[in-house]
Amino acid sequence: MKSSKANALPPSDVKSPFVQNMFDTIAPTYDLVNRVMTFGLDQHWRQRALRDLGVGATTTMLDVACGTGDFLTLAQTRTQRSVGIDFSHGMLRRRTTVAPVVQGSAVHLPFGTATFDAITCGFAIRNFTDLDSVFAEFARVLRPGGSIAILEVAIPSSSIVQWLHDRYFNGLVPLIGGLLSHSKDAYHYLPQSVTYLPTSDQFLELFTSNAFAPPRVTTLGFGASQLLTSTRLGLVP
Ligand SMILES: C[S@@+](CC[C@H](N)C(=O)[O-])C[C@H]1O[C@@H](n2cnc3c(N)ncnc32)[C@H](O)[C@@H]1O
Repeated sequence: MKSSKANALPPSDVKSPFVQNMFDTIAPTYDLVNRVMTFGLDQHWRQRALRDLGVGATTTMLDVACGTGDFLTLAQTRTQRSVGIDFSHGMLRRRTTVAPVVQGSAVHLPFGTATFDAITCGFAIRNFTDLDSVFAEFARVLRPGGSIAILEVAIPSSSIVQWLHDRYFNGLVPLIGGLLSHSKDAYHYLPQSVTYLPTSDQFLELFTSNAFAPPRVTTLGFGASQLLTSTRLGLVP
């Protein structure tokens, strides 16, 4: 399978409007493409994150970059006290959740300090522009002792799986995404956006410098995804 060579990443100064516009465009078929691309595993990964966080009936939960609301929908069977935020009006308009959502930026969360017991954030870290500010906001709105789960794509560590993953992610995914969504560009951006992924050291620094415990990292989908969970410590960052 031939890899896409053309650079599909935007210049850094326009990354944020580029990402917003891209998700507005692909919103109508976003859920379908996700299910097809991950063979439905993405929902199991979200369930795993909610389970690891221990979300229950009294948990007040925020889903940052909620998109069409997959995390929120799954969380509904556990808690009625969840809310989502995303800056893409297109994604929010296509939401499948009954939980409340607001349009806004992860860099300026419109919620008070220590409001939430739990935060989820799925497949959005690569798409943020200013990760330091986003993590500072996570720490601000989460109460001390509260927990966070970040779900992201990953690069498999085994060389054979990496080879297969590369063929799939760089070859088939742009093809499937382009066909189903009519937006070839977005699904060229997707595999290339792994270059924005923080390394494990950078993740560690983001968590610990914002008053979180070092994250527990769980590999999912033969290394194609990663789940990072952590607890907000009692210190003010
Ligand atoms: C790959 S989608 C993930 C959606 C959802 N979390 C899921 O698990 O399917 C990434 C989402 O991040 C949102 N996003 C990216 N940057 C953002 C920001 N700075 N503030 C709020 N939302 C943002 C996009 O609009 C998009 O809906």
